[in-house]
Amino acid sequence: MSEQIGQGEQTGTDGTESHDPKVPAAWAAFMRTGWADREAAVARREVADHAAARRARLAEMFPGERLVIPGGGYKVRANDTDYRFRVDTAHVHLTGNQTTDATLVIDDGEAVLYARPRSGRETDEFFRDRQYGELWVGKRPSLGELSEALGLEVRHADDLPAALGGGKTRVHRGVSASVDAAVEGDAGRDDELARVLSELRLIKDDWEVGQLQEACDITALGFQDSVEEWERVLQYGERWIEGTFFRRARAMGNDLGYDSIVGGGAHATVLHWIDNDGPIEPGTLVLLDMGVEGRELYTADVTRTLPVSGTFTPLQRELYQLVLDAQQAGFDAVRPGARFADPHEAAMRVLAHGLEGLGLLPVPAEEALDPESKVYSRWTLHGTSHMLGLDVHDCGRAAPEAYAQGTLAEGMVLTVEPGLYFQADDLLVPEELRGIGIRIEDDLLVTAEGHRNLSASLPREPDAVEAWMAEHRR
Ligand code: GLY
Ligand code: MN
Ligand code: MN
Repeated sequence: MSEQIGQGEQTGTDGTESHDPKVPAAWAAFMRTGWADREAAVARREVADHAAARRARLAEMFPGERLVIPGGGYKVRANDTDYRFRVDTAHVHLTGNQTTDATLVIDDGEAVLYARPRSGRETDEFFRDRQYGELWVGKRPSLGELSEALGLEVRHADDLPAALGGGKTRVHRGVSASVDAAVEGDAGRDDELARVLSELRLIKDDWEVGQLQEACDITALGFQDSVEEWERVLQYGERWIEGTFFRRARAMGNDLGYDSIVGGGAHATVLHWIDNDGPIEPGTLVLLDMGVEGRELYTADVTRTLPVSGTFTPLQRELYQLVLDAQQAGFDAVRPGARFADPHEAAMRVLAHGLEGLGLLPVPAEEALDPESKVYSRWTLHGTSHMLGLDVHDCGRAAPEAYAQGTLAEGMVLTVEPGLYFQADDLLVPEELRGIGIRIEDDLLVTAEGHRNLSASLPREPDAVEAWMAEHRR
């Protein structure tokens, strides 16, 4: 009897599963022979120069030190099924690399990417490993191809441990358990690296702005697709919109930047409603908060609240206009030198006075706006803005003085997204308001003159929203 490889193993180191057919040595040996040379000429990617400039800025801030920035690997979804891989944000910002199991090391300014190579044909990996095998998941770039594409020195991932010994080393932690374990931690120094990596992304270069514009443009198409499918939206409910938008995201981008929020009726009052298992009913509003992540992983983050029947009722229109006025006040506050908090404060001022006009506030609007009160927030709930980029909530580890308590500068991209939310069981509002949620969200680039709305191709004015729905609904 011929030798059986992997027999009796649940999950072999070669990736073989209990349900996989046995691999006789004769088959394995035969598989390793007779293949053409697979090294391909690859073009240097556009991201390469931008990433090199970012690495240079980072290295300048930590002279003489070693910085370790892993990209991460697969995460289990269930048993032997992983989530689709999405590389770590700081890693892709500094390399452009989107392959799994790679780590960037910058040692006193010298950058090397340690990467997992394409599986060779001299072992069984290429036809047996369901995570990495070329015949299972497709061809990885070779180390040479990766180096050409990214304009970086690339070495084998097996050489990484040797590169981490000795010397003053900081690690971007929480991305790779094996890299975290390989270097003794100094929480303070590592936190400082995480802060700097976040702050490096606060100002977008022109190429990044182009990527964000493209993500917004594809996102607008995804919203339009949903309206074009309105008959089936009415038939199947929220998930038809979720699925329709996802198709556009995958067809033209990389993925969704975050799980789509599709809130029909009272679901719109749940800020991150991603169950999306409800109906879409005539006469109600539906809140769509959806963003495409483009091929270079920059994401849009856009919200529109649409009248399901195609026209707003007078009450819906009045509330919608109030949120729109608040958003416009937020827009008007976005310019270089303004405080990050200014758009929020401007939008909340409009909403608090609007809520006072509706007779809902227990105190005058100006009193409710006092930072020690904020009682109006029962119906506004969240902040108005966040940075946007490779992460939907970008630059999350930046220091407060550089971000939340800082000032806006040319090249920053942020959302402006006020909302009003009247919960279905809120006894402090009239019955006709209960179960209404409205948010309008756009993505603004801070320019020398003030700002540019990257998501302006989707209408915001109520008349324009109705006209756009009438144009695209079939
Ligand atoms: N989509 C999440 C947010 O708007 O922040
Ligand atoms: Mn947002
Ligand atoms: Mn959003």
